[in-house]
Amino acid sequence: MIKGAYVHIPFCEHICYYCDFNKVFIQKQPVDDYLNALDKEISEGLSRAESDLETVFIGGGTPTALDNQQFHKLLKIIDRHLITPKIKEYTIEANPENLNETKFKLMKDYGVTRLSLGVQTFQNDLLKEIGRPHSCDDVIDIFQEARLSGFDNISIDLMFGLPNQTEKMLKESIEKAMILEPDHISIYSLQVEPKTIFYNRMKKGKLHLPGQDVEANMYELVISELDKHGYIHYEISNFAKKGFESRHNLLYWSNEQYFGFGAGSHGYVQNSRVVNAGPVKNYIQLVEETGSGQFASHTVTRKEKIEEELFLGLRKLSGVKKKRFYEKFHCQINDLYGEEIERLKQQGLLYEDEEKIALTRKGVFLGNSVFEAFLA
Ligand SMILES: C[S@@+](CC[C@H](N)C(=O)[O-])C[C@H]1O[C@@H](n2cnc3c(N)ncnc32)[C@H](O)[C@@H]1O
Ligand code: SF4
Repeated sequence: MIKGAYVHIPFCEHICYYCDFNKVFIQKQPVDDYLNALDKEISEGLSRAESDLETVFIGGGTPTALDNQQFHKLLKIIDRHLITPKIKEYTIEANPENLNETKFKLMKDYGVTRLSLGVQTFQNDLLKEIGRPHSCDDVIDIFQEARLSGFDNISIDLMFGLPNQTEKMLKESIEKAMILEPDHISIYSLQVEPKTIFYNRMKKGKLHLPGQDVEANMYELVISELDKHGYIHYEISNFAKKGFESRHNLLYWSNEQYFGFGAGSHGYVQNSRVVNAGPVKNYIQLVEETGSGQFASHTVTRKEKIEEELFLGLRKLSGVKKKRFYEKFHCQINDLYGEEIERLKQQGLLYEDEEKIALTRKGVFLGNSVFEAFLA
């Protein structure tokens, strides 16, 4: 039974230097045709698989890059197909520079429960250096406006390991974030991805990144500062006040199935991992012709399901529950991976008790080494 739906809006008002997500500059894009295609894809997609949705997440790109009218149309489509009284969490990703009173009001009217705000850092110079168009003051103003509009569940995205960022700058960013008291924080270390401006700069030797040791210190700093302020570290890159963990993202990490709608989105439906066409025009054409945006799919084998259960599940600091694993796969984790578990325990990367296996504090820093052990 499918419990979550992700909807991708691949438009942005500007392109950040680090970003390789599926997105295009919004000007001159066929946004209305895109929304019509989304309408059709969602309605037909829902009829093809059994669902009992509890979470909806509209991400991007930048959903709030749509103008007020387009944004209203999007919310109507989502409302018509996906929103039922059973929805427990309805998130929209938003950028500070394109939120306004009308969009806040629309989101409230359509029952959006959670706002995920892209902040990245609280230094104006650094914001410019990574290609963000907003300032720290914009973030503070918009955050306060969101609270006044009645949003009592706000997440912010931050980044570390940015060019020329020091530990002191990161500490200052966290301190400023703490003044706002967000309910949830996602914080990622910069990944330099091909086809980004940063990647080209790196190739020319013009990107000055903190070294690996500094990056590890930064992560340590994030963990200790957020712990001091009462945030629960519940996933490698995610922290929440009690009760504000992202239900939608927990579906991914718990290896549950979910719909992915929109250009370039990923879904996990009827035991298949599916990927939609990425380019906006291809996606629209595909949906018009077939009712689905699907470009590729892969039926997940039992072995892959088990591997995914472990490497996704271990991202959660609460780990993988042995009972749940047995109920899903009718075998014990230890019978399959006894040797690997013992080795990782000896290396101090994994903790085990009667109920679960979970990353240790050392394991949280070296997550990839742990995950690799469970891959063939
Ligand atoms: C793709 S963005 C979409 C949300 C929104 N448009 C924004 O700019 O905040 C989601 C988040 O992914 C993170 N992100 C994007 N590219 C990244 C990269 N190359 N390395 C690390 N984190 C990245 C950023 O924190 C960003 O807020
Ligand atoms: S980080 Fe957000 S705003 Fe920047 S290019 Fe990526 S999706 Fe667009």
